[in-house]
Amino acid sequence: MAGIKINNLVKAFGNVFAVKNLSLEIKDKSFMVLLGPSGCGKTTTLRCIAGLEKPDGGEIYIDNKLVNDVLPKDRDVAMVFQNYALYPHMSVFDNLAFPLKMRKIPKDQQKEKIAQVAELLGIEHLLDRKPRQLSGGEAQRVALGRAIVRNPKVFLMDEPLSNLDAKLRLYMRSELKKLQKKLSITTIYVTHDQVEAMTMADEIAIMDHGVLKQVSAPREIYNHPKNVFVASFIGSPPMNLISCSFVEKGKTAYLDAGAFSLPISDELRGIVKEKMTNTELFMGIRPEDILVKKEKGIKGEVDVIEPLGAEFVVHLCVGEQILLAMLPKSAGFTDISPGDIVFIEFNLNNLHIFDKKTGETII
Ligand SMILES: Nc1ncnc2c1ncn2[C@@H]1O[C@H](COP(=O)(O)OP(=O)(O)OP(=O)(O)O)[C@@H](O)[C@H]1O
Ligand SMILES: [Mg+2]
Repeated sequence: MAGIKINNLVKAFGNVFAVKNLSLEIKDKSFMVLLGPSGCGKTTTLRCIAGLEKPDGGEIYIDNKLVNDVLPKDRDVAMVFQNYALYPHMSVFDNLAFPLKMRKIPKDQQKEKIAQVAELLGIEHLLDRKPRQLSGGEAQRVALGRAIVRNPKVFLMDEPLSNLDAKLRLYMRSELKKLQKKLSITTIYVTHDQVEAMTMADEIAIMDHGVLKQVSAPREIYNHPKNVFVASFIGSPPMNLISCSFVEKGKTAYLDAGAFSLPISDELRGIVKEKMTNTELFMGIRPEDILVKKEKGIKGEVDVIEPLGAEFVVHLCVGEQILLAMLPKSAGFTDISPGDIVFIEFNLNNLHIFDKKTGETII
């Protein structure tokens, strides 16, 4: 049993604020992914939780206990790093035994525990090898084993799969997720890979420049981003953001994007008017929510076509703007080529509107 609670965490290095007033709750036994671009403060947050950095402000609770002044070794957390440094001169067995020796666990119990963990991770046959005799994936599993072997309350993982090739990474992703559920250990996992975050997380916390931008389940983050940053960070290809102005003329209201205008319902008009700070907005539409047709709709010219296998991405020039549309291969529309004039329509059920000035979501 170990939930984690972070209250207003602040950490600065000189005049760089790596973490700004971060508050986050990680439920017991859950898998939280910290996601964000390079330098946004993920590792720093993790190191504060582990006790490897001293916060400049705020509180960290593990299992309802304030740990700000608790030494790293007494926090009962295990951290796995990107470059999982195994001790090169020690065998796999001795690498796994090391954390147990440090805790003065009797030899026979060490052996038993290592056997259990080795079986769990499928590394029984590697126990006599030295780290240099292991493949990347095997070394990664040994590093995990070393973290698991002492039953920590919390796992902290900092891009643990980033040294692996794509195929192994995919495999280890699902293995890790299964393992975490089996062991029921509260885990915080850092990555800048959104696919990793979407597939592994119970909840995703997205950071930017030290600030937490949203915490939600993966699907919620994708379907209901709270701001432009999250909307454009999650999704590949990214959401189309179209500059537009809110215009009212008599009984009707519309979003004027220059090259085209989008009439909006009375209901939507009410919401936009209530929430906007001024009339400058962004329309947000995901590539899969753009329909491409041969007639009727907003006119666009095909610029580039990228086949991705199961679907293809079409780059369209609409006025000054390039919009990306993602079409399934089955769309039966494979005969379009660069230079063709097409017509597009938005799936308005999934239209997003953002306030340009604040970056906050309106709908
Ligand atoms: N020891 C340090 N001294 C000075 N500045 C630091 C130190 N550690 C981190 N920083 C700065 O703090 C900010 C956050 O760094 P952090 O390592 O937490 O980012 P990150 O999100 O883990 O990035 P990445 O995805 O590249 O690993 C960065 O601007 C970084 O340069
Ligand atoms: Mg980092």
